[in-house]
Amino acid sequence: MGDRRALVTGITGQDGSYLAEFLLERGYDVYGLIRRSSTVNFERIRHIQDDVHLLSGDLLDQNSLMFAIQEARPHEVYNLGAQSFVPASWAQPLLTGEITALGVARLLEAIRSTDAEIRFYQASTSELFGKVRESPQTETTPFYPRSPYGVSKVYGHWITINYRESYDMYACAGILFNHESPRRGLEFVSRKITNGVARIKHGRDSRLLLGNLDARRDWGYAGDFVRAMWMMLQQETPDDFVIATGRDRTIREFCEAAFGSVGLDWEEYVQVDERFLRPAEVEVLRGDPSKARRVLGWEPEVSFEEMVAMMVERDMELVALEK
Ligand code: NAP
Ligand code: GDD
Repeated sequence: MGDRRALVTGITGQDGSYLAEFLLERGYDVYGLIRRSSTVNFERIRHIQDDVHLLSGDLLDQNSLMFAIQEARPHEVYNLGAQSFVPASWAQPLLTGEITALGVARLLEAIRSTDAEIRFYQASTSELFGKVRESPQTETTPFYPRSPYGVSKVYGHWITINYRESYDMYACAGILFNHESPRRGLEFVSRKITNGVARIKHGRDSRLLLGNLDARRDWGYAGDFVRAMWMMLQQETPDDFVIATGRDRTIREFCEAAFGSVGLDWEEYVQVDERFLRPAEVEVLRGDPSKARRVLGWEPEVSFEEMVAMMVERDMELVALEK
């Protein structure tokens, strides 16, 4: 048993799995909230499944959050659970709001009524900035979300700050820019590209259909970004931080790097399909991580090129294993 206990919502997701590994390495007792599903989705945490405590619960269900807090008695809660895929938020705006917006309030209420000393991390996002008002974006850049997901995250962000200010709770919001890894969901553009590259290289596919190739994102590596979440909860006073690399690239540039890493010319394989365009687009995101560098001492360690190569390499292995 470690001295410190942490509860992670969204432990089956990309970030949850990296954060759980990170906390286990630091000797934490790690509890993860798992929602019921008819098929097991422990792919990302299978290797640590016996080292963590899995608790049944859902951000839609207030009582389950109360029980999880009472059972885990955590020192730290990381709220990573969300409906996190932007296009799905237009298809299911109300569900997205229930989970991604009100889910934060449910969890904060469960903490407040059980033990208000618990430290809380909220997974805020660069999607808050949306149609950006200035570049690069900092902790003081005004918000202009462009999707039901972004709008829900604005609520999650402000309710976190409001609980800090109303109840003197240690609650932080990390405004994280896009971060990727071999564990990224297949629907997000980075993994869709690296998986597509592997399928084309192995002769399983002949083309890759994408949407807006001109969008720009500030892409970092998920392993680096979960370290920043933990660092935020180790400060004397709670605060909010932008976590980013400070450099943005287009989807085209991502394609060029990914296809190029296996000696292919992306322009021969990528086609634009209007089905993947969005009703309202976030054209460009670039964060300024100066405050995180200065206050937390946080720096990303894995470069963009290393991350893309790591993702393609892993997808090459996975596609080779597919029957
Ligand atoms: P992800 O891979 O989509 O994982 C989302 C997690 O949330 C999954 O474990 C999912 O569980 C869980 N979840 C969904 N609905 C839930 C509900 N009703 N109750 C409890 N859990 C629920 O997302 P991620 O990339 O790891 O991102 C983690 C968090 O950071 C999210 O809040 C996301 O919005 C935010 N964020 C991500 C990025 C990024 O670039 N990755 C950047 C900024 C902010 P199932 O496995 O059961 O679906
Ligand atoms: N998914 C996807 N699929 N995106 C595409 C495609 C495609 O075929 N073609 C172009 N894009 C463009 C999208 O229009 C968008 O501008 C950009 O690629 C990135 O899309 P995603 O990878 O789906 O990520 P996102 O930026 O919308 O959202 C992710 O990052 C946010 C942080 O900024 C998610 O992880 C969010 O949960 C997170 O908050």
